[in-house]
Amino acid sequence: MQISLQNQVAVITGASSGIGSGIAKSLASAGATVIVNHSSERSADEAKAVLKEITDAGGKGITYQCDVSKEDQVIKMFQDVVSEFGTVDILINNAGIQKDSKFTEMTIDQWNAVIGVNLTGQFLCAREAIKEFLRRGIDPSRSIACGKIIHISSVHEIIPWAGHANYASSKGAIRMLMQTLAQEYGADKIRVNSICPGAIQTPINKDAWSTPDALNSLLTLIPYNRIGQPQDIGNLAAFLASDLADYITGTSIFVDGGMTTFESFSTGG
Ligand code: BGC
Repeated sequence: MQISLQNQVAVITGASSGIGSGIAKSLASAGATVIVNHSSERSADEAKAVLKEITDAGGKGITYQCDVSKEDQVIKMFQDVVSEFGTVDILINNAGIQKDSKFTEMTIDQWNAVIGVNLTGQFLCAREAIKEFLRRGIDPSRSIACGKIIHISSVHEIIPWAGHANYASSKGAIRMLMQTLAQEYGADKIRVNSICPGAIQTPINKDAWSTPDALNSLLTLIPYNRIGQPQDIGNLAAFLASDLADYITGTSIFVDGGMTTFESFSTGG
């Protein structure tokens, strides 16, 4: 049994670092042509470095700058990708940010920035992807399905998170977006799922792992007793995007070393 994404084109948002870069590498190694999206000029070099690793390993792809919270930019990205590669088969809705604050001090800018990227960005990209899937229709030389969307959510789609109300709200909403799209487009053979990562070692949560004290405290929340790596998410993304997962749609899969078993209850409650 082998995961193959041969002949397929995948857009991975927020792929210049962290989980997105891990997913781009996994999808490329399974044969997909990857669009390594990054949000701004500042992340261009990082995106190029991710792409270089992919092409050095024999993979194919391009980098593409687009702020997913901006409708005109998202529409243009999908138009450009379709005109260069013919279509899009897989969307990995990954781009996400945190702007943490105690709730009573949270500014409207912190709220809007997080909802804009994490939720509106996933809406815009999913809308453009689904339009393209429907335009192309099913092509069995590519996949049994008409298209695949994987939302990158979080354990915080179900774990409340004090000091992170904007982030947790965006992730809770992603669950309903994902399930609604799976319901609405199931008959069109479009599969829509979420991956919910726990603590993965990336720049977004550097404060939680970059000192021994912080890491030890983080590990008390993880029964499996290690921090996750982008590859842990990439492995599942490649499987979920492939025809091996053809009967999986409308679900959230947690990749969290057991974080959602609520470890603190092992000695309390
Ligand atoms: C957040 C990380 C956090 C992890 C577990 C993720 O969604 O982005 O900052 O470490 O959840 O709490």
